[in-house]
Amino acid sequence: MTCPPERQASTTIASTWDAALYDRRHAFVWEMASDLVVLLAPKHGERVLDLGCGTGHLTKRIAETGATVVGLDQSESMIAQAKQNYPDMTFVPGDARDFRFDQPFDAVFSNAVLHWVTPPEKAVQCVARALKQGGRLVLEMGGKGNIRALRAAIDASLDEVGASENKALKPWYNPSVAEYSGLLESHGLLVTQAALFSRPTPLEGGPAGIANWMRMFGSMLLANLPPATQAEVIARIEDRLRPSLWHENRWVADYVRLRVVAVKRSVPEGQTHPESQR
Ligand code: BEZ
Repeated sequence: MTCPPERQASTTIASTWDAALYDRRHAFVWEMASDLVVLLAPKHGERVLDLGCGTGHLTKRIAETGATVVGLDQSESMIAQAKQNYPDMTFVPGDARDFRFDQPFDAVFSNAVLHWVTPPEKAVQCVARALKQGGRLVLEMGGKGNIRALRAAIDASLDEVGASENKALKPWYNPSVAEYSGLLESHGLLVTQAALFSRPTPLEGGPAGIANWMRMFGSMLLANLPPATQAEVIARIEDRLRPSLWHENRWVADYVRLRVVAVKRSVPEGQTHPESQR
C-alpha cells in the first residue's frame, strides 16, 4: 500500500505544467527514452517506481513487462492526464524531494525529470530510502552542457529586450557524471554505469518548435513580460539559433543526456548507511 507522499508547501514549476500540451507536442520526451526502459530490464513481478512519470507513457511501457509500477509526479495535471491515458494503472501525486512509500521498490526509474529537481540531495535521499537492498536506480536527465546554445540564445534575447534580470532564473540542474555519481555514492547507491552524451533532439511543430518548447519548458523565464515582449524574445531566440539548430525544416535542440545505473549497496551486517535507512 502506498503512503500519500507529503507535499512541499511551495508551488514549483512542475505544478503549473500543461499536460495536454505535453502529450500533444512533446512526445519526443518519452519516445526517445524507450531504450532506457530496455536498460531498466523490468521483470515480471518486480515493483518499480516511475519517478516523475509525466503523462504515464513510459510507466505503461514498464508495466507491459509484468512489473507492478507506481507513477509519481508533482504535477496534478500530469497525474490527471496519466490516469486518463491509463485508467487501470497507479499514479500518485508527490514531490521527488519528499516522498515515502511503505513498501520498498526493486527499481526506481526516472526519465527527463531530475534536471528539474533541486536540491538534488533530497531526491537522491528519497530514492535511496525507497529502494530495497540491491535494488537499482536507472535514470536519464539533462547533463552538463545540456541546451547550452538554447540557453545562451535565451539569455542574449532577454538582454536585448531589457529583461536581463530574468537571466537570474536557473530552472535546470545539469550535473556532470562525476558530480551526480558522487552524490549517489554518498547516499549508498553504487554507480555501475554512467555516461554523458550528446543527443540532438528534434522538436515537434516544424517552424513553431522553439516557441512550443519555450511555452512548455521555458515559460518561467518570460512569465513577467507582456505578451508582445514574450513574442519578441522568442523571435530573437529563433533568429539567433537558426544557423545552428534549424535543420531540414525542423528545430533540433542541443540536448545532452546523463544516463546512470546505480545499485543500493548491501550493507554489511551491523552497519547501516545513514541516508538509506528505512
Ligand atoms: C531536458 O530534457 O533536457 C530539458 C527539458 C526541458 C527544459 C530543459 C531541459
